[in-house]
Amino acid sequence: LKGPKEKGTMGEPAPRALAGSAVERVLIGVAGLGHVGKAFVGLVQDKADSLRTRFGLDLKFWALLKSDGGLISDSGISLEDLAGLDQSRLTLSPLWKTGLGVEDVLPRSGPGVFVDCTPSNIQTGEPGLAYIRTALKAGWHVVTAGKGPLVADFEGLRGLARDNHLGLGFSAATAAALPALDIGVHSLAGADVLSIEGILNGTSNFILTQMGEGAPYEVALKLAQVRGIAEPNPALDVGGWDTAVKLLLIANSVLGLGLTRGDVQVEGITGVRPEDLTQARRKGRAIKLIGRIRREGDRWRAEVGPVSIDRTHPLFGVEGTNKGITFETDTMGSVTVSGGKSDPRGAAAALLKDIIHVFRK
Ligand SMILES: NC(=O)c1ccc[n+]([C@@H]2O[C@H](COP(=O)([O-])OP(=O)(O)OC[C@H]3O[C@@H](n4cnc5c(N)ncnc54)[C@H](OP(=O)(O)O)[C@@H]3O)[C@@H](O)[C@H]2O)c1
Repeated sequence: LKGPKEKGTMGEPAPRALAGSAVERVLIGVAGLGHVGKAFVGLVQDKADSLRTRFGLDLKFWALLKSDGGLISDSGISLEDLAGLDQSRLTLSPLWKTGLGVEDVLPRSGPGVFVDCTPSNIQTGEPGLAYIRTALKAGWHVVTAGKGPLVADFEGLRGLARDNHLGLGFSAATAAALPALDIGVHSLAGADVLSIEGILNGTSNFILTQMGEGAPYEVALKLAQVRGIAEPNPALDVGGWDTAVKLLLIANSVLGLGLTRGDVQVEGITGVRPEDLTQARRKGRAIKLIGRIRREGDRWRAEVGPVSIDRTHPLFGVEGTNKGITFETDTMGSVTVSGGKSDPRGAAAALLKDIIHVFRK
């Protein structure tokens, strides 16, 4: 079997995207071919030319894994092989192998990038946790859309990546297309971050926005589900837990705190009444589900809950499915970023961005 690329090793800087420069061939293994996994495969195909010319990267799909098996090809899985990623047709592909698992796939090749798009379980971290550990131990860089594995073992996975000199990207798990981690980790380097506040869950923000316009909670939730914004089971979103785990991943990355789920006080939006929102609106205020971490004496206090904010608050104008985050710093003042697509293609774009950054380093 061929290695990941024709020359050099995965940890070396990518060739610059200059005319005549070499293009680095990178093997990609994907686990989870649901909304995000499919969007990622499609995005890499759409962007193939620009990845080659701008970043010197030729991403080749080596393995695509579902829960019951997968496709694997030494020469790269082509668009035709993928049959539009139609789940029922995938198993008919000559490349399909029932029971194929990550432990069969990764050690068989030279290293590449493993892309985890499996469902998130914030209690156990599985199945992504075992996949990511296997990938890092096999020398593969990892990018993940799943919050579960990172919440379950943030320090362990980061340590494994660090010890093996590998990238571990998780932008897609921390508000996806909103570059929250990039700002906190890279753009604010050298400044002391004094507090972080974020609207980090598009579903809750959409529901609160609708309720602010007079819709009862159930109607707003139904509308979010009909539009594909809310999942059939929206408990983690409306219960505040999605916001809480994003907040703790961002806080742990930016502030190096080592927080776990038990350190965040969490309240969701199910207790917010439409009259609270209309009343707030009349006073020129808005109620938002905000995840916040700030210093109290010599301790950090992390909490998620509905908060009434006024027009001067930097997150006041973050409406609908948009998200936003504000960092208060000692030397750079208050820095806010908002927007970022809240959909599987936005999450796929965050995965791709993390891959590009791994090779830029
Ligand atoms: N949807 C979004 O906009 C979004 C945004 C940011 C982050 N995320 C995160 O991205 C991840 C994927 O989300 P999604 O919306 O794509 O979910 P999804 O549509 O449910 O897709 C997950 C896929 O993983 C497959 N799967 C389950 N167990 C597996 C296993 N052991 N090995 C390989 N594949 C397995 C499932 O199909 P089979 O069982 O048929 O293989 C399913 O199709 C989640 O962790 C989510 O929290 C999603």
